[in-house]
Amino acid sequence: MKQSKLGFNGRRDFLRIAGASGAAITLGVIPHSLFAQGSPLKIGIVGAGRVGGTLAEFWAKAGHEVLVSSLDAEADRALAAKIGTRARAGSSRDAAQFGDVVLVSVPYSALPKIGQDIGDALRGKVVLDTCNPVPARDGDMAKEALAKGTGIASTALLPGVRLVRAFNCVGVGTLRSETNRAGEKVGIPLAADDAGALAVAERLVRDAGFEPVVLGGLARAKEFDYGTPVFGKGRTPTELRAMFKLG
Ligand SMILES: NC(=O)c1ccc[n+]([C@@H]2O[C@H](COP(=O)([O-])OP(=O)(O)OC[C@H]3O[C@@H](n4cnc5c(N)ncnc54)[C@H](OP(=O)(O)O)[C@@H]3O)[C@@H](O)[C@H]2O)c1
Repeated sequence: MKQSKLGFNGRRDFLRIAGASGAAITLGVIPHSLFAQGSPLKIGIVGAGRVGGTLAEFWAKAGHEVLVSSLDAEADRALAAKIGTRARAGSSRDAAQFGDVVLVSVPYSALPKIGQDIGDALRGKVVLDTCNPVPARDGDMAKEALAKGTGIASTALLPGVRLVRAFNCVGVGTLRSETNRAGEKVGIPLAADDAGALAVAERLVRDAGFEPVVLGGLARAKEFDYGTPVFGKGRTPTELRAMFKLG
């Protein structure tokens, strides 16, 4: 079997990585380049606000190519210019089409429209979802999403994507101040049903300057949703593993 630069040996190692991640496993076709730590990814950002813009900057610094989008094309062009040569701006559809991976980082109440408008372009993509249902901002649909858990609710709103719940429970101020800090890094809880998507998300958490903490399948995303004890504070992986009883 041909070995990649990373020592990734194809399906057998894919299964090993998948098993080690603890996720409920769905085997999808993820290109080898998404695993190869040396090769840059193309990342589309749908919702280049505080969180999306910050992660776009971190990932461009780490060598990835980003395409930022929001509802304000001028702001997107300014953000791309500020980030530098690895960034460009476009529409949300452009971001969905551009990305090997797409970060969706919008108010939760915008997710149904995103599913309707660009769901076709997102289908089959690895999607990192930071969106929190906040009843005071997003209304009754947020209460329903929290009752189901966002892993389940977001899957229904973005059908057919390789969804990973990621970067939702650490504030943007902490992302900015604690990226790549010395000592134990801030942990980012992750949940996904698709092991390949999870492996890509783990890589992007590290590339943003944090440490992934994998809970398991999407049903477990509920444990770090808005309003849970872990929500809103930057905690170390050691603290998170204890809180999630991850052994
Ligand atoms: N702020 C935090 O500390 C934090 C931390 C973790 C997770 N979150 C969650 O992550 C999400 C983003 O948070 P944020 O603080 O980054 O919010 P934000 O600064 O308000 O950014 C939201 C972005 O979404 C864009 N947007 C809104 N509706 C859209 C649509 N229909 N299509 C495409 N783009 C759309 C906005 O564009 P315009 O600016 O042009 O309106 C803006 O760029 C939220 O769900 C939030 O609860 C926030």
